[in-house]
Amino acid sequence: MKTLLQINASMQEQDAQSSQLSNTMADALLSRFVGMRHIKRDFSKDPIPHLDHSIFQSFYDPMAAQTPAQQAGLALSHTLILELKEADFIVLGVPMYNLMIPSTLKAWIDYVTRAGQTFQFTESGPIGLLEGKKCYISVTQGGNFLGTPNDLITPYLKAALGLIGITEIEFIYANGLAMGPQAAEAGLSEAHKQIAKITQTSEAA
Ligand SMILES: Cc1cc2nc3c(=O)[nH]c(=O)nc-3n(C[C@H](O)[C@H](O)[C@H](O)COP(=O)(O)O)c2cc1C
Repeated sequence: MKTLLQINASMQEQDAQSSQLSNTMADALLSRFVGMRHIKRDFSKDPIPHLDHSIFQSFYDPMAAQTPAQQAGLALSHTLILELKEADFIVLGVPMYNLMIPSTLKAWIDYVTRAGQTFQFTESGPIGLLEGKKCYISVTQGGNFLGTPNDLITPYLKAALGLIGITEIEFIYANGLAMGPQAAEAGLSEAHKQIAKITQTSEAA
């Protein structure tokens, strides 16, 4: 059975535009693969806490996880990594906050990027240990930074996910959402067109 891991990273519970786009993408995959297991994380309700040094230490020496906070942090990391390892498809809804991804999504990356688990250091540099996953990322932004030096989300997510072996990534962009009703409508319509194109042409969806 295939597995879909969906993460909505917006802090807005209702009406988040990135979540709506990621829901549309997830629904398309779920109707293509009937019965697919669906793991859904909504960071507006259950944000991932920031990693701290004591939890990070326990990643390298699980026996050192003595405190309840360390044990909880280690358990969270295990769970998140397991979800990722089991996923055939990863669908992310990512709003731009101050030119970057939401900090709780960065915290998720910090919990799942672990040497020996999801990547390995080698003499020629790090190699990703996760393979064969398709990732669809819906990015929403109030302005329109796509193709400018301030489009930091695209290269960052490619690099961060690529480090752990997730290299097959398709981005869906809804830009200009705070630039007036016409621009917002055009931005969302363009994003839905991108999703339709992906789901009609991709062998996956
Ligand atoms: C804290 C915060 C910071 C934001 N920073 C930016 C930004 O740097 N650039 C931008 O284009 N839009 C920015 N926005 C606008 C959001 O990216 C935009 O409203 C987006 O649609 C939010 O996605 P959501 O509806 O999924 O939450 C920001 C919004 C918030 C709440």
